[in-house]
Amino acid sequence: MRPLAADVIVVGSGAAGLTAALALAAKADVLLLSKGDLSAGSTAWAQGGIAAVLDEGDTFEAHIEDTMIAGAGLNDRRTVEFVVEKAPEAIERLAALGVPFNPGETVSERFHLTREGGHRARRIVHVDDMTGWAVARALEGAAAANPNITRLDDRFAIDLIGPRDGGRAQGVYALNAATGRVEALSARAVVLATGGASRVYQYSTNPDGSTGDGVAMAWRAGCRVANMEFNQFHPTCLYHPRVKNFLLTEALRGEGAYLRLPTGERFMPGVHPMAELAPRDIVARAIDAQMKAHGHPYVLLDISHREPHWVRTHFPNIYKRLLELGHDLTREGVPVVPAAHYSCGGVVIDLAGRTDVPGLYAVGEVSCSGLHGANRMASNSLLECLVFGQSAAEDIVARLADLPPPPPAAPWDESRVTDSDEEVVVSHNWAELRRFMWDYVGIVRTDKRLDRAAHRISLLAREIGQYYSEFRVTPNLIELRNLVQVADLIVRSAKARRESRGLHFTLDCPDTAPVARDTVLHPPGWRTRAHGTDEADADAGDDAGARRAGVVGLG
Ligand code: FAD
Ligand code: SIN
Repeated sequence: MRPLAADVIVVGSGAAGLTAALALAAKADVLLLSKGDLSAGSTAWAQGGIAAVLDEGDTFEAHIEDTMIAGAGLNDRRTVEFVVEKAPEAIERLAALGVPFNPGETVSERFHLTREGGHRARRIVHVDDMTGWAVARALEGAAAANPNITRLDDRFAIDLIGPRDGGRAQGVYALNAATGRVEALSARAVVLATGGASRVYQYSTNPDGSTGDGVAMAWRAGCRVANMEFNQFHPTCLYHPRVKNFLLTEALRGEGAYLRLPTGERFMPGVHPMAELAPRDIVARAIDAQMKAHGHPYVLLDISHREPHWVRTHFPNIYKRLLELGHDLTREGVPVVPAAHYSCGGVVIDLAGRTDVPGLYAVGEVSCSGLHGANRMASNSLLECLVFGQSAAEDIVARLADLPPPPPAAPWDESRVTDSDEEVVVSHNWAELRRFMWDYVGIVRTDKRLDRAAHRISLLAREIGQYYSEFRVTPNLIELRNLVQVADLIVRSAKARRESRGLHFTLDCPDTAPVARDTVLHPPGWRTRAHGTDEADADAGDDAGARRAGVVGLG
């Protein structure tokens, strides 16, 4: 197979990857890889909207403070300021591409702004209750019309080419799912925009492809990852025997919906002064506690006290879908449960999206930029994709002339593998992994549960590693290999954090430590490479390129 080459490879065509590809394409030719079509990533599934300071009564300072409060003080203030201040121009870029944001309801308001948990002001621009779909379509349309972007769908990136021996990123090996062949794709720089890892849990709001591929690839390539213990559970996923991952947007609570027990009482006013609009970690934990205390399989999300026509016109798609499933949003509470929604941790990056490996960038949910801290505030994620997709592209363009063309990549070696005769190993391990991650590494954790999960992960990792070395890769095997890697990083990070903070709550250390510290995991061989640090095992101070002081390092 002749290797394909471009200036830059972008892995992932969600909001982050498409933003990067479009900004790069002015000066570079781009190969844009994805595992599937528009709906393969989380972007197209986003409902609520994008946070930005656009109201006259709102301020950057207020958005920054709300983000830091939701993030339980673990956020990197420099990153928060960087993103919040770039939000209005990011929204303008989307509007210029034709995203039909809902208009304001008065002449002085350009866009309609809604509210979500943690935000003390109305600052969420949206397109009805299908913001992500509208954003993805506009970005995709622009990418399709750009002759410098070559889109390669049905490609499952497996690993990076180059960094294994301490070198720079020079491309990726990717399985072409249509032909079953692994292609060697070369470039001067690679951008990982592969989204999150919430499908590591049994119940999730995410599409099937959120399997943490980029985090696992970057870790194997020698990048640090940080804050993997902060897995966000969205409080209100529909509870339904057939439909597993239908989200009921937080904007419903932003517009007044209550959470009630099946018996009718509200419980959030007794939990937090912001009641149903408390930060997401607090709401999800409160629901979990109520379900466990009373043995209820769900709680109710109820907006039936608002005027029916208003509900139907503000949440048209959710209203329609629920009606098909037998629930009338305008007349009754709808059963909901928390489900895994967002990965706050990821590949450590700087403000230009640069990772520890030269030539390798990470943007969007795959990354840990410092924006979200211990708990992402609603609608700050698409914003992060738009801001970092742009900043990474600008950094690459500025360096392009100095980036060496990659040497020809060695072809993928399949000389020692055969076709699998036991696909059941993959499906069984996949189900087992997600089940024990849900049971042992969920909303409430303990040391014992984390130990149990760690033990099972080590058994699965060995079995999957052996399977990977013996058989030809398939999409499921590539994802499972990455999922078990990510599960290991999550559990190691959770075990290392000896406190409860934001989304990480453990009964063994229920208090919050006075100083907020990141959990940074160092990949094998980190200390032998030239990273400008010779720190010993754990609790090292800040290390080269880390975002701030107070880093917990695991060897
Ligand atoms: P994604 O959009 O997930 O895209 C990942 C891309 O990478 C896909 O194209 C995928 O095919 C590709 N990919 C992955 N692995 C590989 C591989 N190995 N090889 C090749 N390609 C690969 N956030 C908000 O800010 N506001 C909201 O209202 C909101 N609502 C949400 C509602 C739902 C139901 C969900 C699930 C999430 C929501 N979020 C929201 C979160 C937000 O949508 C995501 O964090 C964001 O879209 C992530 O974008 P991304 O570009 O990083 O990744
Ligand atoms: C939602 O619409 O509730 C999701 C918002 C988000 O995850 O940012």
